[in-house]
This record gives sequence, C-alpha cells and structure tokens, in this order.
Amino acid sequence: MQIKDHVFIVTGASSGIGLSTATALSDRGARVALLARSAAALKELAGRLPGSFPVTADMTQFEQVREAVRAVHRHYGRVDGLVNNAGRSYAAAVEEIDPGLFEEIFRLNVLGPIVAMQAVIPLMRAQGGGSIVNINSGTAFMTVPQYSVYSSSKRALLGFSLTARAELEKDRIVVSEIYPFITATNFGRNRMGNPAGGGPSANYAEGDTPEFVAGLVLQAIDEGHAQYFANDRLREMAGV
Ligand SMILES: NC(=O)c1ccc[n+]([C@@H]2O[C@H](COP(=O)([O-])OP(=O)(O)OC[C@H]3O[C@@H](n4cnc5c(N)ncnc54)[C@H](OP(=O)(O)O)[C@@H]3O)[C@@H](O)[C@H]2O)c1
Repeated sequence: MQIKDHVFIVTGASSGIGLSTATALSDRGARVALLARSAAALKELAGRLPGSFPVTADMTQFEQVREAVRAVHRHYGRVDGLVNNAGRSYAAAVEEIDPGLFEEIFRLNVLGPIVAMQAVIPLMRAQGGGSIVNINSGTAFMTVPQYSVYSSSKRALLGFSLTARAELEKDRIVVSEIYPFITATNFGRNRMGNPAGGGPSANYAEGDTPEFVAGLVLQAIDEGHAQYFANDRLREMAGV
C-alpha cells in the first residue's frame, strides 16, 4: 500500500519499535498519529515529525482506544494504516502467574489490538482498503520458561491476525504480522512480574535495532505479505 500522504496510527509510539516505525513512516511522507500513555514523550516526538498527531490512550482501556481512533479520524479525515505495536511482557513461572497481571497482558497484547482493528476496519472499508500490521514476537513459536503468559498472548495475536487477514481480503484490507527477535528497546526494563525471579534474561542492548524492525513494518505495508520474520531461524520455527 502507498505510504506517502497516507494516515497511519502507530500504537506504542513513545518508545522502541513504535517510535522508530513512526519516524520511518514520517520520513516516507506519511502523516502519523502517535498513540501511547506518555503524553510528554508523544508531544516531544510530534514536534520532530511534521504533520504528526499525538493521541494519549491506554490500550488496556478499550473505550480510550475507540476514542483515540475517532480523534485521529476527526483530525485527518481518514485512516489508511494501523500498526498495533504497544506491548509488554511478564515474567512468572506458570505456578506463580498472577491472574490480574495475566489479564493486563492479554488486554494489552491481544484485546487492545483487536479493539483497535475493530475501530479502523469500518473506516478503511469505506475508503476502499487499508493496511494493518500487528507486531508479534518470535516467542510465539518458542517455549521459554517464565514467559508463558507473554508467548501465549502473542500466539493468540497470531491466530486473530491470520483469521482477520482471511476475513478482510475481500475489502482490500491487508493484515500482516512482524516477528521481531530480541530488539534493543526499553522492552526488558518495562517487563512486568519479578525480573529477579529468574528465567532467561535477554541482553536487549545486543539485539536487533528498532530501526531494523521498523524497516520490516514498512516492507509489510509496501508488499502486504502475511508474515515477516527478523531472521531465518524464526521463519524455520514458524514452519513458513
Ligand atoms: N524488544 C524486543 O526484544 C521485542 C521482541 C519481540 C517482540 N517485541 C514486541 O514489540 C512491541 C514493541 O515493544 P518495544 O520493544 O518497542 O518495547 P518498549 O520500548 O517497551 O515500547 C513499548 C511501547 O508500548 C507502549 N505501551 C505499553 N503499555 C501501554 C498501554 N497500556 N497503552 C498504550 N501503550 C502502551 C509504551 O508506551 P507508554 O509507556 O508511553 O504507554 C511504549 O511506547 C511489543 O508488542 C513487543 O511485544 C519486542
């Protein structure tokens, strides 16, 4: 899909992969709505990206998500793309999973993206098409001790994304997914649960750059294939 002059919503735009994606889209001439909870960070980024629009919303609060999409549509008069990127992980052994934190992760990583899709789909359909890119994770194909909640949330997102892709093809709305591997962002620092509780502790500083993942997002918008992987090992694990 065309990027220049089109309107994209990027969730989790205040940091990491979302910030890099918003910047890359803006560099390609898109108008970018920047969504996250950190109003100050969004305002600062909006000052650097011409034609961008900061929208504060918590993805776990679904009416805020719907209102944010309405605000973007009021501002630009259209919505061409959605990058569902906001997400967090949670470290806990199955034996120790806190149901409240389980619920928060699933609201953020699964239901929030679904509600955002539900809000943009009618707008895109009325415009004759659009692009939805969901940021998944290589852990969707892995068994990682302490990370069952996170990897399960991403497996769920995988299922919803592929099904939505099949459902929306007739409306020329293309749903793609990105599978990053370890990426140098604030993701490790923002992990919920007990970081001292053990489990593999990735060295995020040595991972891929967020700019590399943003490049995959733009490639997905350009080409519209179903799945994009950060490396061949992930592609093999996915059996694609
Ligand atoms: N980094 C990795 O190694 C890695 C690997 C695979 C997949 N991923 C995926 O990549 C995506 C982006 O993560 P990242 O690595 O860029 O991490 P990050 O630097 O921690 O950024 C996460 C973003 O999500 C936003 N966010 C968190 N909770 C939110 C909420 N309740 N409502 C709205 N926004 C919220 C944060 O903004 P606020 O705090 O301002 O709300 C921030 O902008 C996630 O979906 C993650 O699962 C990351």
